[in-house]
Amino acid sequence: MKALVCTSFGLPDTLELKEIPSPQITDDQVLIQVAACSVNFPDTLIIRNLYQFKPELPFSPGGEVSGIVKEAGKNVKHLKPGQRVFALCGWGGFAGEVAVDAQKVFPMLPGMDFVTAASVMYNYATSYHALKDRAELKEGETLLVLGAGGGVGLAAVELGKLMGANVIAAASSEEKLEICRQKGASQTINYSTEDLKDKIKELTGGRGADVIYDPVGDKYTESALRGIAWGGRYLVVGFAAGEIPKIPLNLALLKGCAITGVFWGQFAAKEPAKNFSNIQELAGFFMNGSLKPHIYQLYPLEKAKEALNDLMNRKVIGKAVVILDEQLVNEPLAEIKPQTKPEIKAVSEPGTKKVFRDFDEVKAFVGQSFGTSSWVEVSQEMINEFAETTMDKQWIHLDPDKAKMTPFGQTIAHGLLTLSLTPKFMYELFEVESSKMGINYGSDKVRFLSPVLSDTRIRMSAKLKSVSDMPNNGLKMIVEATIEMEGKERPACVAELISVVY
Ligand SMILES: NC(=O)c1ccc[n+]([C@@H]2O[C@H](COP(=O)([O-])OP(=O)(O)OC[C@H]3O[C@@H](n4cnc5c(N)ncnc54)[C@H](OP(=O)(O)O)[C@@H]3O)[C@@H](O)[C@H]2O)c1
Repeated sequence: MKALVCTSFGLPDTLELKEIPSPQITDDQVLIQVAACSVNFPDTLIIRNLYQFKPELPFSPGGEVSGIVKEAGKNVKHLKPGQRVFALCGWGGFAGEVAVDAQKVFPMLPGMDFVTAASVMYNYATSYHALKDRAELKEGETLLVLGAGGGVGLAAVELGKLMGANVIAAASSEEKLEICRQKGASQTINYSTEDLKDKIKELTGGRGADVIYDPVGDKYTESALRGIAWGGRYLVVGFAAGEIPKIPLNLALLKGCAITGVFWGQFAAKEPAKNFSNIQELAGFFMNGSLKPHIYQLYPLEKAKEALNDLMNRKVIGKAVVILDEQLVNEPLAEIKPQTKPEIKAVSEPGTKKVFRDFDEVKAFVGQSFGTSSWVEVSQEMINEFAETTMDKQWIHLDPDKAKMTPFGQTIAHGLLTLSLTPKFMYELFEVESSKMGINYGSDKVRFLSPVLSDTRIRMSAKLKSVSDMPNNGLKMIVEATIEMEGKERPACVAELISVVY
């Protein structure tokens, strides 16, 4: 395979285009046929041995790829050959194929192209974590972004606007600032011609910026910090301009502000659940078109050195992307068709209730199916009532507008609401004529497999798994139940329900 190889540390021009063997994967890795690999700031550091991770020579740079799984290691369960994926591989992406730990590989979103998929994770996940978790940016606040035309900077501009902030973009050229305006900046500062601190004060009526996002460092940091508002949050994201600034700490005291570090990689490792939730929210924003990375230029592998030089020379606006497989990248995207509803196979006709005359008939039925219940629509009204009763009022259940931004695209029912409908389904499916009383004890071994979207119709299919005698002439029935959703193959949940009849 063709690869851009770093054989000795140095500037991009020292990299060599070579034919090298494909990498071997371990049992926990996948081999990705690379379609596109975007250029990130660490690529310019890793080739000079200035990055925190130091691969052994020779290696290929390129840390963020999209492509197709060619081979999956035997311990890899969630990915299979042929699947379209994107990954943060660290290095090795400027090559026809790359071996990546499966946990760093994600299925591509439906309808997303390879260039976009190779350009989103690093920038948007960093900036979302910074603005949401570290700065707790609020609607109506003023956000100043330095290096706003760069990778993480432009993502911060877009996200800041989406989060309802008034965004001031600061960059070194009018060309960069124009793209920032297109991405939502309402005001701009050209810091190669204007004084940063004076201009911040002018644009904010002397108040200063509530949140400052700084991936640039060097001489820009102190001027920006002098323009922060009382009680502001200063986000330390990176030092693209070279020098790590030494800040007089009296500024933090005088401004009553917080100087806050941002390290997305560590956050993802130490707080994976929170990071996953951010990524799900970002996926929703991409799916509904609220976010779209700006692609500066596409480069063939032969010109990857140029892409790295362009980044180092502050030419790139948004993302530079190297194309490894033009054919794959140019493949037309499959149209996303609305889900067609498969014909529903009823195990037995609804309404044919199984009636047992006595416990002996129940015992003789063990292992047999009760068939399926009728459909019940889980309406938004039911979800609201359930939330009211249980006091579980999370917005994912109750706020259709906010829920539109999630990968589900709408509100979802509480899992326990779905489960609470099982007694109703059981009454439809069977009856023991001789019993004076029945108690539905609840369930055992429940697994929730898919969310039930609001207004979805669900039903239950069930089988009598086992029975056992209980004290006081009772009979305990274990019913194996599957809650199906109309039009979906994957059930909402499976459970073993416990019913005791006397
Ligand atoms: N903390 C984290 O978790 C995290 C995550 C991702 C990235 N980062 C860091 O954030 C920084 C920016 O990354 P990025 O991917 O956005 O890079 P980028 O696309 O190259 O953007 C950096 C911006 O910095 C400005 N800059 C000023 N002086 C520069 C110089 N001497 N060389 C290069 N750029 C200069 C440029 O804008 P102007 O020309 O307009 O000044 C450029 O657009 C890097 O230090 C990176 O390591 C940190």
